Amino acid sequence: MGPSFSLGASMSSLLRNDLDVLPPLGTLARGEPIQVFAAPPGTPAKPQIARAMGIEMWDTAGNRYLDASSGPVACNLGYGNRRVLDALTSQAEAAAFANVSHFESKANRDFAERLAEAAGPGYERVFVVSGGSEANEAALKLARQIALSRGEASRWKVISRQPSYHGGTLGALAITGDPSAHAMFGPMLQEMPKVPAPVTYRIPAGLDEENWALKCAQDLEDRVVAEGPESVLAFIQEPVGGVSTGALVTPAAYMTRVREICDKYGILLIHDEVMSGGGRTGAFLSHDHWPDCRADLIVMAKGIGAGYLPLGLVLAPRDLVETVASGGGFLHGHTALGNPLSCAVGLAVLEETLERGLVERSAVLGAELKTRLWDMANRYPIIGDVRGKGLLMAVEFVADPATKRPFPIEAAVPAAVSRIAMQNGLILYTRGTNAGRDGDWVMVSPPLVTSDRELDEITDRLEKSLSQAEAEFSSLRKLGN
Ligand SMILES: Cc1ncc(COP(=O)(O)O)c(C=O)c1O
Repeated sequence: MGPSFSLGASMSSLLRNDLDVLPPLGTLARGEPIQVFAAPPGTPAKPQIARAMGIEMWDTAGNRYLDASSGPVACNLGYGNRRVLDALTSQAEAAAFANVSHFESKANRDFAERLAEAAGPGYERVFVVSGGSEANEAALKLARQIALSRGEASRWKVISRQPSYHGGTLGALAITGDPSAHAMFGPMLQEMPKVPAPVTYRIPAGLDEENWALKCAQDLEDRVVAEGPESVLAFIQEPVGGVSTGALVTPAAYMTRVREICDKYGILLIHDEVMSGGGRTGAFLSHDHWPDCRADLIVMAKGIGAGYLPLGLVLAPRDLVETVASGGGFLHGHTALGNPLSCAVGLAVLEETLERGLVERSAVLGAELKTRLWDMANRYPIIGDVRGKGLLMAVEFVADPATKRPFPIEAAVPAAVSRIAMQNGLILYTRGTNAGRDGDWVMVSPPLVTSDRELDEITDRLEKSLSQAEAEFSSLRKLGN
């Protein structure tokens, strides 16, 4: 059960002061918040965060919000978790930092040991970095060194799915399936081959979900052959997708074939579990839902640090890491590599997740949430699909549920729904991969600590927001009919 906390009247009035009246962005000479990088001058400022506890957040004007998306699907434990804060403080007091070139740390060792145990056999080594993009880059470089240690220097191509999201840094962007990002940054990237993702909502005419999934898997094999199998290093996929596909749950037939194809051609399989790992989907690793498709390398971030500190990692088998180490070692590093503070937080998050049974809780709560979202879909035609596993869930918006026709991109429906929800005190996460051309959805992915009562409140506020969105977009719905 989540904490029941409400901001008293005296506290709310304390938070209201002159500083709370924020000028529009871009009107000050210096010292602007980070939003100025994305918002043209004059854009209204966002509310200022005052405090957060459990799944509740308050701005400095005293407005209360329920976080229905765990921030960017990261804050698995909600906010203000005592165990994590204590671990953070005591590690900071003991040794806030120690560089891996000079020291080992107990925090790093304990975190790695506990995480490898939770991941299960085959993932004994943990390379700790500061986020998902960094972790994907580390996985790519580790994969390359594994190939070199096997005498396979010709392997360097990493095939990925279209659409997909693996991060914003240039290496991670090269394997991200997002044509509009590639249109902008393409000249700076080493382009990597893409194959269609086995999407489940808009399936080509004449095919059912399984046939389409098998066709997508065949596309992967064809692409491997076309590229030259000896040049293909790895295939990377999100077992349960995030914002790029609106929580696409990969069909089982596809997963099975992918493992077979990777084995057949000696290709490393990487699972990007940045958003889906750590218990969010009702299993500790989301690929545990498909026992016959285990990855060679696993990438995690987001929920593993639960938003308390930047944290990402690569899970790898002991033998592969030993081969690389014996051959001269992994040629990769960052200042914050394996830092004790992030590891102490990671360990506390992990213990809290496992000891409170939050993985199982995510499965139970997710099933209930999915039922309620489908119930709303039946009453609000703006919802075309509900997808996901556990508490990694998304709702897709359509102008016409019969034809699955999306809204025009210019309508920016997910951003509008997110704005309406925020006015109703509900936080929803959305981000337009491929500038919104791949579909319109928002993530409904609350923290794993959400109580039954809080889930009621989330669904009430969501329903209110959807009915307002339905009214706001009704003219667009009719236009195409
Ligand atoms: C599946 C996936 N991979 C990688 C990333 C990049 O992680 P980060 O934003 O921590 O760099 C994200 C972020 O949303 C993600 O969802």
